[in-house]
Amino acid sequence: MIFLVTAGPTREPIDPVRYISNRSSGKMGYAIAEAALKAGHDVVLISGPVKLHSSRGAKLVSVSTSDEMFDAVHQHAGDCDVCVLCAAVADYKPATVSPLKIKKRGDEISLELVPTRDILASLGSRRDRRFLLVGFAAETHDLQENAVKKLRAKNCDIMVANDARVGMESDENELLVLFRGGEIKKFHRTPKQILARELIKIFSKFATKVFDKKNVMISERN
Ligand code: CTP
Repeated sequence: MIFLVTAGPTREPIDPVRYISNRSSGKMGYAIAEAALKAGHDVVLISGPVKLHSSRGAKLVSVSTSDEMFDAVHQHAGDCDVCVLCAAVADYKPATVSPLKIKKRGDEISLELVPTRDILASLGSRRDRRFLLVGFAAETHDLQENAVKKLRAKNCDIMVANDARVGMESDENELLVLFRGGEIKKFHRTPKQILARELIKIFSKFATKVFDKKNVMISERN
């Protein structure tokens, strides 16, 4: 199978020397890409700026802003069987980017922010969708309830939920895997590499089932 994996943060520029970003390290996404490769799959890794080396064998697409990630994801998703959107994409970006460094003044300033495009939701609504769609939900409260809402709102097949305070920048994570049909699987605190291996098994099994069903549907139609 071909896996598309997004990882890391995005950077939304304010001026030539400043940006808005977040603390995502990219470790979970890179571990998923690595586990998929080890399981014999092809991988397109679309990565925001991180301090990690991509696995040899993955096709690495480096991006910086949410708009660049949006374009790269849509460019590759049609060729993939499983799309795993693990990146911590900025939800807002500055309304305008100053071409010159904003100079310090004595008074207060404010920054106008506008929403970015939601990449996961845009894949969920693609009419030509033939891939399994997996989202990641980073929460600090009401983990399961918020993740179920995201699963439905973004039309995913699977939503992997974690407490951002446990997973962010860490080598370990604690996960809830929520399936479209309502099933839930829980993983206690475990190294991200091990979790990634388990997730790849789950995603490939689920994708195989979905594709079997699609084949049945296609043959029923013919
Ligand atoms: N996501 C995305 N594009 C965005 C924002 C988020 O594709 N502009 C994706 C993330 O990659 C992740 C999922 O949506 O797979 C959930 O991201 P998360 O940050 O947990 O939730 P948000 O939808 O941004 O909502 P909130 O920040 O309010 O929790």
